[in-house]
Amino acid sequence: MAETVKIYAAIITASDSRTVHEDVSGHLLGGLLESIGATVVHHSVVCDDLDLIREALLSFTDTREVNLIVTTGGTGLGPRDNTPEATLTVIEREVPGIAEAIRRETALQTPFAILSRGVAGTRNGTLIINLPGSPKGVEECFAVVAPILGHAVRMATGDTNH
Ligand code: MTE
Repeated sequence: MAETVKIYAAIITASDSRTVHEDVSGHLLGGLLESIGATVVHHSVVCDDLDLIREALLSFTDTREVNLIVTTGGTGLGPRDNTPEATLTVIEREVPGIAEAIRRETALQTPFAILSRGVAGTRNGTLIINLPGSPKGVEECFAVVAPILGHAVRMATGDTNH
């Protein structure tokens, strides 16, 4: 079995109404990431503004401080749900299988899973994954990606030995 890389993660919560302190989904996500051995380097809450989400994504990918960014929130159908659009403007390559698996697997738990428009992709050696905003959505969707995160991050960082 190939070695997996150490994961350094940033959490970005997209929400017009939450502060970091009140960010239940972001804290839950932090605990889930730590439970698989990742170190959470940043946790920020930005409002549901495409440019601000984009700026946050760029600030973490361009400095290469982290090799994984997980966003929560802003993936739905509301007029202020901009996270997938912001992500699509920064990624160099999409990884459609991640979002496909999240929706496919979690739709077995809730039909509302198909309402999340989340995407995933890579930029500058960093893997970016969008998750929905509810704590339940975070938990269910994280369980789908957890088994592949180490390998996916290792490949995204350019280590393709396997
Ligand atoms: N996916 C899972 N697995 N579990 C959930 O509870 N909630 C859905 C969906 N995806 C949910 C889910 C709901 S109700 C919505 S509106 C969309 O995610 C978008 O949520 P967001 O706008 O907070 O990102």
